[in-house]
Amino acid sequence: MSGLSGKRVLLGITGGIAAYKSAQLVRLLRGEGAEVRVVMTSAAGRFIAPMTLQALSGNPVRSELFDPGHEQAMGHIELARWADLVLVAPASADFMARCAAGMADDLLSTLCLASEAPLALAPAMNRAMWEHAATRTNAATLAARGVSLWGPEAGDLACGESGAGRMLEPGQLLARCRDRFSGGVLDGLRVLLTAGPTREALDPVRFIGNRSSGKMGFALAGACAGAGARVVLVSGPVALETPAAVERVGVESALEMQREVLARAGECDIFIGCAAVADYRPEEMAREKIKKSGERMRISLIRNPDILAGVAALEHPPFTVGFAAETRDPLGYAEAKRRDKGVDMVAANLVGADRGGFERDENALTLVWEGGVRELAMQDKRGLAAELVMVIAQRYALARGGAPGG
Ligand code: C5P
Repeated sequence: MSGLSGKRVLLGITGGIAAYKSAQLVRLLRGEGAEVRVVMTSAAGRFIAPMTLQALSGNPVRSELFDPGHEQAMGHIELARWADLVLVAPASADFMARCAAGMADDLLSTLCLASEAPLALAPAMNRAMWEHAATRTNAATLAARGVSLWGPEAGDLACGESGAGRMLEPGQLLARCRDRFSGGVLDGLRVLLTAGPTREALDPVRFIGNRSSGKMGFALAGACAGAGARVVLVSGPVALETPAAVERVGVESALEMQREVLARAGECDIFIGCAAVADYRPEEMAREKIKKSGERMRISLIRNPDILAGVAALEHPPFTVGFAAETRDPLGYAEAKRRDKGVDMVAANLVGADRGGFERDENALTLVWEGGVRELAMQDKRGLAAELVMVIAQRYALARGGAPGG
């Protein structure tokens, strides 16, 4: 029996050339035993005939929010509750914007808001539209809210240009649907992560900080939750939304972060140290704002505890993963860091100049564990997080004597 057998997929179609591929997607979904109901926006009807989708899905196709005939048979809230998965393919730039804004001015946007089922969007649009700052912001908002963005991929586009903006092929979307229902690689596991920078107070208004955006840690927390784990994210101050189904604990300093981590480390299966923890803190914090006086000022700093090494040194440590941001030789430093800190795996990336890493949306990683190395190519931090979670799940299973990926 396929993993899609009996699953209810609400397929939304918005206006775009790629809408013709949705007909094939309906066939593939039904071929695996899924029940499919199609909802189209009014623009989608210009690209593909509702009759085609009705015949292929075996169910009436809907597009009006207030259509008495349809509302009587199955009201829109009922339809929202019916779905095990809401997939919008293709999702236009306009639809992504409306979804990100939480609009409910037509049937499909209303269903996306009203349904508690997982929501996945398969974007399809012109390259410049996909790269536009507005679309990037909308994509980030949706992802932070736990919406899966499947694609787009790079290739020839209907507008004659080539670049990122092509909807994934129906077969690829089918595979994503299967994955979504197949249970996660971290099912039932408890994951504790640190993310973001720390702030080390000099006085009540000043601190020593760093440029960590927290994006990698937040993407990882979301990916772990998506893979079935119960996730607690101890984060320094960052301007990011907490990913869906993640418990967030906000901290400022390294000492606070250490306290919150150690209070929970004994009860987690996997610990991922993603935070850019300040190595040193001011030896003393002035009680009042420091006034300017002489030409020079000296601040005495003392070493902060290493949170990651502390967790790895526990009597019964969880599976530990650390990060290493390096300006050169990531492999060499990662291996040294793995041994020095006694952790199970280190993920190293190059930072500085035009590379990924801090403050960027993209990153590449070199993973090192005892006797193994793996490169994860430069990509969006969310995609990278999903790949990293797969490797962590495999290494965790092997370290605990189970089957890889189990
Ligand atoms: O030693 P370095 O700062 O390069 O190590 C980076 C790794 O160690 C990251 O995983 C980071 O979260 C963790 N770390 C920590 N506590 C510190 C310093 C680093 O947990 N005080």
